[in-house]
Amino acid sequence: MNQTYINELKDNIGKEVTLKGWLYNSRSSGKLVFMQVRDGSGTVQCVVFKGNNEEVFESAKSLGQESSIIVTGTVKEDSRSPIGVELDVTGLEVLQNVHDYPITPKEHGTEFLMDNRHLWIRSKKQHAVLKIRHTVIKAVRDFFDDNGFTLADTPIFTPAACEGTTTLFEVDYFGDDKAYLTQSGQLYNEATAMSLGKTYAFGPTFRAEKSKTRRHLTEFWMVEPEVAYATYEDMMDLGEKMITHIVSRVLNDRRLELDTLERDITKLEAVASPFPRLHYDDAVKMLQEGHAKGELENNFEWGGDFGSPDETYLSSQFGKPIWVHHFPAAIKGFYFEVDKDRPECALGIDLLAPEGYGEIIGGGERAASLEYLEKQLKHHGLPQETFEWYLDLRRYGSVPHAGFGMGIERCTAWMCGTEHVRETIPFPRMLYRLRP
Ligand code: 4AD
Ligand code: MG
Repeated sequence: MNQTYINELKDNIGKEVTLKGWLYNSRSSGKLVFMQVRDGSGTVQCVVFKGNNEEVFESAKSLGQESSIIVTGTVKEDSRSPIGVELDVTGLEVLQNVHDYPITPKEHGTEFLMDNRHLWIRSKKQHAVLKIRHTVIKAVRDFFDDNGFTLADTPIFTPAACEGTTTLFEVDYFGDDKAYLTQSGQLYNEATAMSLGKTYAFGPTFRAEKSKTRRHLTEFWMVEPEVAYATYEDMMDLGEKMITHIVSRVLNDRRLELDTLERDITKLEAVASPFPRLHYDDAVKMLQEGHAKGELENNFEWGGDFGSPDETYLSSQFGKPIWVHHFPAAIKGFYFEVDKDRPECALGIDLLAPEGYGEIIGGGERAASLEYLEKQLKHHGLPQETFEWYLDLRRYGSVPHAGFGMGIERCTAWMCGTEHVRETIPFPRMLYRLRP
């Protein structure tokens, strides 16, 4: 194929190349047309000079935004260009000249843009966000693959709840049986970890969340490692290594995109080990002091779950991600191991991202005792027969084990500095959004 990609132009200075893409933007002045051309790999300025070829010049002048075009030209070094080059156009083939592209450079409302998400993803910022999402995912996969983990994906149709029955999507499964879309692959990860030792799953997960916050999707992607013979403390070590790896990869590989998004990268550069580790008791004290100082509106009582102002307050005290561990067992899932000396505390861990991005990792140590889990299932109103296979893991070679889950969109939103997770997935699914 006779095509050079825009991200390869720097290696082709002085050569004649052919770009295949779309017109992102253009302006003309007298004898020149300046076309911003994008091709998926980047954007480059292509300059058409009337004196070179009048026909090409007239054709370039007639093009509207998002016209599909094939451009031939010579690559020239240009220090003002963000990618260091521009193209001196010698030829232009128009596949489709477009004049009514709905998204113009003017401001549009979010609803309009979300309705046109299939087109909006072509915009520079959305393109940058999707590139960063890709790098987050690649960094995560490389991290686990290079650290002895085996990928073992878990089912999407499941017969039971993992994260509580209130956020389950129910699906008719051939009439007789009910199925639910998975909320987390964790329970299956616990089984694969007993085979593979260190395992991870990566896939879509579903929550029938009735919340309309900037952090909630009904369909999101989660990466979930699980490790046999590991403790909740080991998971804080692992999660910390994973996060610093992601941040350094994004800083290394996506500088252009971070610039496009005007991300304050000093905030990302500050993300270095060790992350502070806060016992829930101490987090509660900190929140109560914050309230006493008038920095937090609501007072926090031991036993409660953090709201987003609480999470923001806690992490803003440190300017880097922080771990909170030892949550009250009463607000956690049925499967958590508890502290032997303080059975009211679950060995759960959450990682709170800075800058108000809130919880991005949730996990902990899993209960190893059969008797305890049987009691917990009853207590949580879950049908034991559906969990018999899970209980088998405690009947045959039960060992301490732990894991966690990280939401890809929340992590990507934090990397990008975007306000809302809806922009960090190509086609978001939310309480009031199933289209396009
Ligand atoms: O804290 P959660 O609910 O934990 C679990 O599902 C565990 N079973 C995971 C495990 O231990 N293997 O969810 C984990 C993470 C959250 O920290 C958050 O990043 C993300 O998943 N998440 C969501 N992201 C977007 N929209 C939602 N509605 C989310 N709910 C959770
Ligand atoms: Mg959680």
